[in-house]
Amino acid sequence: MAADFTIDQGWDRYTDTDHALWRTLYDRQSKLLPRYAARTFMDCLSRLDAGDGVPDFRRASDMLEKATGWRIVAVPGLIPEGAFFDHLANRRFPVTNWIRKPEEMDYLEEPDVFHDFFGHVPLLLHPVFADYMQAYGKGGQRALGLGRIENLARLYWYTVEFGLIREDGQTKVYGAGILSSAGETPYAIESPSPNRIGFDLERVMRTRYRIDDYQQTYFVIDDYDQLFTATGVDFGPLYERLAGPPEYAPADVLPTDKVYTKGTQQRVLGTKTAAE
Ligand code: PHE
Ligand code: CO
Repeated sequence: MAADFTIDQGWDRYTDTDHALWRTLYDRQSKLLPRYAARTFMDCLSRLDAGDGVPDFRRASDMLEKATGWRIVAVPGLIPEGAFFDHLANRRFPVTNWIRKPEEMDYLEEPDVFHDFFGHVPLLLHPVFADYMQAYGKGGQRALGLGRIENLARLYWYTVEFGLIREDGQTKVYGAGILSSAGETPYAIESPSPNRIGFDLERVMRTRYRIDDYQQTYFVIDDYDQLFTATGVDFGPLYERLAGPPEYAPADVLPTDKVYTKGTQQRVLGTKTAAE
């Protein structure tokens, strides 16, 4: 492994089983996209032409680089925050090289190549989103120095991983964590359980999230410009405020929220009852 935690993808080492599993995952998600995904995501995904098997990062990078200046680098899994931010700040997106086992089709504890590539790489072709990701990397380096990573990580979580977007009067998915999951994709849009709330930077950065189940709240942006503009301000004063209360629980709805859907939270309540 290199000092920046990158490795060779080792594309030649993927087996027929690996490629077949990729195709199964790809086809399953692709069927869901027209109904649930943002138009921008689908357009960008089709440009990647990645449906045949685990993509070769070199080939995808050459195409990506021409479009928005991003490249993909292979990593063995989650890497330290500092290295991750440095890659993003330099328009390099780290993608895990291994693919899940067939018995892990629906549940994974860590991101694999399907989550990282299928979920994250398409929007790197979108000029505004591509700039947002780089700005996030630079912001991460700054937040590390200021000790406010937890707040910034919430922004990533509720946008890059689990973000929703308005499109022609409807709510659609652009977050990678949702779009790489066959269960959470319909849930995020159709389930009465979660809240769907208009994006507000400080509200999001004060809101804890859960990593063990589908989200209890999604935040909805109007478009990628809104996201880029809202986060383009100096976070210095904001970080000072964020050092103090309040902090919100994952299911909270506030009087100041722009509520698209107030969730029933039946998924969580149901789980609780079943366990009792
Ligand atoms: N504007 C932020 C700062 O001053 C940086 C940032 C941009 C963070 C975009 C996240 C996303 O720290
Ligand atoms: Co991810």
